Amino acid sequence: MKHRLRVPTRLGRVFANIFIPYCTVTFLPVPVFAATPNRVTSIFEPLSTPAQAIYEISLLVLAICAAIFLVVAGMLAYTIIRFRRRPGDEGREPPQVYGSNQIELAWTVVPILIVFVLILATARAIYDVQGAIPPADAINVTVVGHQWWWEIHYPKLGIVTANELHVPVSESSKRRPSFLRLESADVAHSFWVPQLAGKTDLIPNRENRMWIEPTQPGTYIGNCAEYCGLQHARMLLRVIAHAPADFETWVAAQQMPPVEDAQTQAGHNVFFSTSCINCHAIRETKANGKFGPDLTHLMSRQTLGAGVIANTEENLRAWVRDPQHIKPGALMPNMQLTNDELDQVVAYLLTLK
Ligand code: CUA
Repeated sequence: MKHRLRVPTRLGRVFANIFIPYCTVTFLPVPVFAATPNRVTSIFEPLSTPAQAIYEISLLVLAICAAIFLVVAGMLAYTIIRFRRRPGDEGREPPQVYGSNQIELAWTVVPILIVFVLILATARAIYDVQGAIPPADAINVTVVGHQWWWEIHYPKLGIVTANELHVPVSESSKRRPSFLRLESADVAHSFWVPQLAGKTDLIPNRENRMWIEPTQPGTYIGNCAEYCGLQHARMLLRVIAHAPADFETWVAAQQMPPVEDAQTQAGHNVFFSTSCINCHAIRETKANGKFGPDLTHLMSRQTLGAGVIANTEENLRAWVRDPQHIKPGALMPNMQLTNDELDQVVAYLLTLK
C-alpha cells in the first residue's frame, strides 16, 4: 500500500513546488497599490502591435499543444482503464509488438510536421516583431535598468525621466511606434509590459532593442522580469500612452527648465549642500549626479521608488526621511536630515513639477 502511494505523492509535491508558483508568477497581475491603471496586465489582452503578434502565435501553440495533450492523455487513460489488472488474469506479459513500419512512420512523421509548422509560424512572428523598421517619426527612447529603477531618455526630445515611459498611441491613420534601446547600468534586468510586447533583457555592456505600439490611451503596468537582487519585485514600470495631442503637451512640459521659487530657497540650499546632488540631476543646475533618477520634473511622476508608493507630499517626506524603511536595499541612503531640513527639502522638491 505504501509503495503505491509514493509516486502520486512525489508527483503532487513536484506539481505544488514548481507548477503552482510558476503559474502564480507568470499569470497573476502585478500587485499594485491604489493608483490602479485601467487594465490588468495579461498577455491575453494585447493592445500593441508586437503583443498582438505574440498573442496570435501563442494561441496557435496552445491549440496544438492542447490537441496533443488530449490525444496522448486520452489514449493513456483508455489504456489504463481498458487493460487494467483484473482478478483471474494469468499474470503473463501481454504480447510485445515490434517493427510495425506504419506505427513508427506515423509517430515520426507527424511530430516532425507539427514541429515544422510551429517553427515556421514562430519564425514569421519573430521576423515581424524584430525586423520592424522604425518610421521617420517614431519615438526613440533609451531605457537603462538600474537596481531598482528605470532611467528613461528621449535623446531627440532632450527629456530624461524615470520609471514612467510616456509614448503616443498609434492610430491606424498615423502609426507612431516607439523604439526602445535597452541598456543596463549594473546587472541584467528585463523590460516587460505584458500588454505591449514580449520581454527583452537589459544586459550590461550590451544594447538590446525592442518596440511598442500601444493602440489605446491608458496606463500599462509592467515589471522587471529578470531577477536582479533584493528589490527585483519592486522594480515596477509604467507605460503611459497618450492621445497624440496630450503627448505633445507632456513633451512640452518635460522640456521646461525646473521652476525657480524663492519661497523654497531654504530647501534648495539643503538639497545643494548635501550629497543629494552626487546622485540626482536637476537640469540647468549643478546637480548632475547619474546614479539616481533625474528630479527635474519629479512631481510629474505618479510614483516614488519605481512604483512602491504613490507620489504624494506625505510619501515623499517619508521616502526622503528614510528610503530604507520603504524599500530596503535601495541605493539611496538615509541622509539624517533634521525635521526642519526635511520639511524644507520636501517643500523644494514639491516645486519640481
Ligand atoms: Cu531589475 Cu529584476
